Amino acid sequence: MTELGWIIVALVPFISCAAGQTEAHYEWTTLDWLKAHNASHELHNVTTADGYQLQLQRLPRPGARAVLLVHGLLGSSLGWVCLGPAKSLAFQLHQLQYDVWLANLRGAYPHGRQHIELTDVMDEFWSFSFHEHGAYDLPAIIDHMAEVTGSEQQSGEADREAPTRQVLLIGHSQAFNAFLVLCSLHPRFNQRIQLMQALAPLSRLHRQVRFDAAQVRSLMKFVKKRQKSSKFELFPPGYLRKLCQRKHEQCEYYTKQYAGSAKSNKKLLEAFNYEHLLQGGSAREIKHLQQIWKSGDFIAYDYGPMQNMKIYNGVEALRYNLSRISVPTILYFGETDAIATPEGVHAIYAQMMNSVRSVKRIESPKFNHFDFLVAGEVKTLVNDKLIELMEKFLEGKLSYIIE
Ligand SMILES: *[C@@H]1O[C@H](CO)[C@@H](O)[C@H](O)[C@H]1NC(C)=O
Ligand SMILES: *[C@@H]1O[C@H](CO)[C@@H](O)[C@H](O)[C@H]1NC(C)=O
Ligand SMILES: *[C@@H]1O[C@H](CO)[C@@H](O)[C@H](O)[C@H]1NC(C)=O
Repeated sequence: MTELGWIIVALVPFISCAAGQTEAHYEWTTLDWLKAHNASHELHNVTTADGYQLQLQRLPRPGARAVLLVHGLLGSSLGWVCLGPAKSLAFQLHQLQYDVWLANLRGAYPHGRQHIELTDVMDEFWSFSFHEHGAYDLPAIIDHMAEVTGSEQQSGEADREAPTRQVLLIGHSQAFNAFLVLCSLHPRFNQRIQLMQALAPLSRLHRQVRFDAAQVRSLMKFVKKRQKSSKFELFPPGYLRKLCQRKHEQCEYYTKQYAGSAKSNKKLLEAFNYEHLLQGGSAREIKHLQQIWKSGDFIAYDYGPMQNMKIYNGVEALRYNLSRISVPTILYFGETDAIATPEGVHAIYAQMMNSVRSVKRIESPKFNHFDFLVAGEVKTLVNDKLIELMEKFLEGKLSYIIE
């Protein structure tokens, strides 16, 4: 696969917002979508322990069960709203009386781009991977939610019966890595998360993806080139649009490799007009994934022996201790996922038998990594199933089925 191929692989998540929209919507953010559909919403600013200022969006139902939706690599909360109220998970959960919160992790454009001291044109701003998403961003977000919902309960706004301050978590792709970091580094969150539902989870990449060493090398070459020219943000807004205008056919070809059905593809290709499909990512995010792929182990970022000694008290990078994770977890995979392959997801299950309660195959012969966000049939194939299993779990009736 060429460099372009790799870029497309990384880019497709942004394409989720194209469905049936006209040009006026090409620059919409999450907020624009919420406003356009007159969805009542709140904005919450959260500052992490290391100074990032993240904006959360909430479709509020004070007193109801709280659900937190977490995006994957290079994504943002946009992916949970941009198919509109008829299809997108955020709207659907809200209609079903859930208190819905949308995370924007550091780097996400435009709601994860503030810092108390740094700006997003500085190298330092971009020194993060999913490690920081799990070690800093998720704790700040989940603590903030508890504070807000806790005070609503005290002030008597809630009239439904004693909701807990636990959170139901739903994450796509790399969000699962951040969740693992969160619960292994800060074990108190094992009690705070009632259920984790992981769509196309990544975690260990070794030997599970449908690409090879040459492809990884070509991606890393691209990353290095960007860094060399001091472009720390990997895929700035407008990048995909320009690229695909120049090389339309290649663009189309590679999109088809990573997003499943013909139906989805039609919409995907429309999306190349969007200015803000790319919601930003750091070189270190890609490098960290590469390190995991190489080592075959779920390790923290490897800074090299000298730095590792300072940071981890050992020459090797920290191995996350997955046996600390006890949150009940449901894993979802697509039959033809090129990144979170069925084998890969089963390998996660094998490592986390204590917490995995079910492994669900999406009922479609073709279902790829980004279809979890962009498929025309996402409501029936993914969202309805996910909500059904979540409700069964909450009633204590989830069956242990490994597919
Ligand atoms: C939102 O509200 C405005 C003004 O009340 C109305 O014109 C518009 O049609 C509404 N949009 C939707 C999607 O309901
Ligand atoms: C959140 O931050 C934004 C910009 O950083 C600011 O405009 C807004 O007023 C803040 N909102 C709250 C509730 O503090
Ligand atoms: C990992 O965590 C488990 C459970 O807390 C603990 O018993 C075990 O000693 C830890 N292993 C390492 C290598 O730290």
